[in-house]
Amino acid sequence: MKKIWISDIKDYEGKEVTLQGWLYNKRSSGKLHFLQLRDGTGEIQAVVFKGNVPEEVFETADKITQESSVEIKGTVKKHDRSKIGYEIDAVDVKVLSAANDYPITPKEHGPHFLMEHRHLWLRSLKQKAILNVRHRIIKSVRDFFDSKGFTLVDAPIFTPNACEGSTTLFETDYFDQKAYLSQSGQLYMEAAAMAVGKAYCFGPTFRAEKSKTRRHLTEFWMVEPEMAFADIYDDMDLAEEFVEYIVGQVLEHNRADLETLERDISKLEKIKRPFPRITYDEAIEILHKKGNDTPWGEDFGGDEETLISEEFDKPVMIHHYPMAVKAFYMKQEGNTAACVDVIAPEGYGEMIGGGQREDDLEKLKAKIKEHGLSEETFDWYLDVRKYGSVPHAGFGLGIERTVAWICGLHHVRETIPFPRLMDRIRP
Ligand code: 4AD
Ligand code: MG
Repeated sequence: MKKIWISDIKDYEGKEVTLQGWLYNKRSSGKLHFLQLRDGTGEIQAVVFKGNVPEEVFETADKITQESSVEIKGTVKKHDRSKIGYEIDAVDVKVLSAANDYPITPKEHGPHFLMEHRHLWLRSLKQKAILNVRHRIIKSVRDFFDSKGFTLVDAPIFTPNACEGSTTLFETDYFDQKAYLSQSGQLYMEAAAMAVGKAYCFGPTFRAEKSKTRRHLTEFWMVEPEMAFADIYDDMDLAEEFVEYIVGQVLEHNRADLETLERDISKLEKIKRPFPRITYDEAIEILHKKGNDTPWGEDFGGDEETLISEEFDKPVMIHHYPMAVKAFYMKQEGNTAACVDVIAPEGYGEMIGGGQREDDLEKLKAKIKEHGLSEETFDWYLDVRKYGSVPHAGFGLGIERTVAWICGLHHVRETIPFPRLMDRIRP
């Protein structure tokens, strides 16, 4: 079966072709049926004119139902008013497999109904556009780090230790031992950076987040670069160049998808370096000026992030949070941590978290103790400081929040093919 894909249709202008796909919509008027065919790579209209086809073919076109798989034969004609620039003048229509009572109709459905039918909902043109943008973002992530001399080092999923705090760990039985699903590959990337200089991992991470917000998944994908001989400022430089690159790639390759999603492209076109950099102290000042009275020393939540992001039309980098609200591995500077959160514009929240790591063995040991963690489980991690410790820094970018921002989606549940949320593990 040598399939002709709709995305290649321009190569067949004036020729007779046979296309396979699914019927996503249909319109009829008297002697004409307009069949909207999609095959995943594109959409094209096939015109079935009563005078051009045998009676039974016209009948078939009349009865054909939404999402039936079909085969349409016809001539490729230029058609300037269609998005793809062509249409099919049909001579034959065959139903390959009829779909009866397809549950997702062109009318409005609620989010619960759509999530229950996620496996079918993915076929809708909007969801397909999101899948395309997600694909582009992941490809740009890989291309960016590969072109900068980073080595992809895979981190394990089963881990014996917490990285981002023990309250969001998924525990599993690992033979007779306790194991957790990884919250972050960072600790392993720190070890890897000492082997390859610049390392990154990209994979799924898990958090038993008991928060039902529009920004939290229990399973999400994260890319985590880590560099030896780097400080917090090198880290911010990398994060900013990285985000600019990703947005640029989507703008270059996925304009049609962004249009399908009705994304305001002009907002994305502003995403150029340099990004604003403010300290946590300055962020607190902004909040107070805007009537939010978060006291110094508290971490920011979604509301604070949204208020701060309103002040800028680019991602804003907030650095040097109070040490007390941050993880044990952060490098301490005064009473702050040499860390950075990158907050997406337009209220999409924190997309990157990272910073410089504590590279002093004794200080790190003290932090592990302070956080009530066991030195034993971290003995391998301490070895990274014991044997040739160097300053190093890195960050993690959450793919789903990045997709939500770039696509302009209110909730992260649409940014991943099969989302895992506190109250959802199917389909
Ligand atoms: O800020 P976080 O927790 O940082 C870390 O895990 C570091 N160990 C990363 C590192 O330095 N290598 O998470 C990083 C990013 C967040 O900014 C956010 O984009 C995403 O991961 N994220 C989530 N995305 C969806 N659902 C959740 N529950 C998320 N938790 C974090
Ligand atoms: Mg964070």
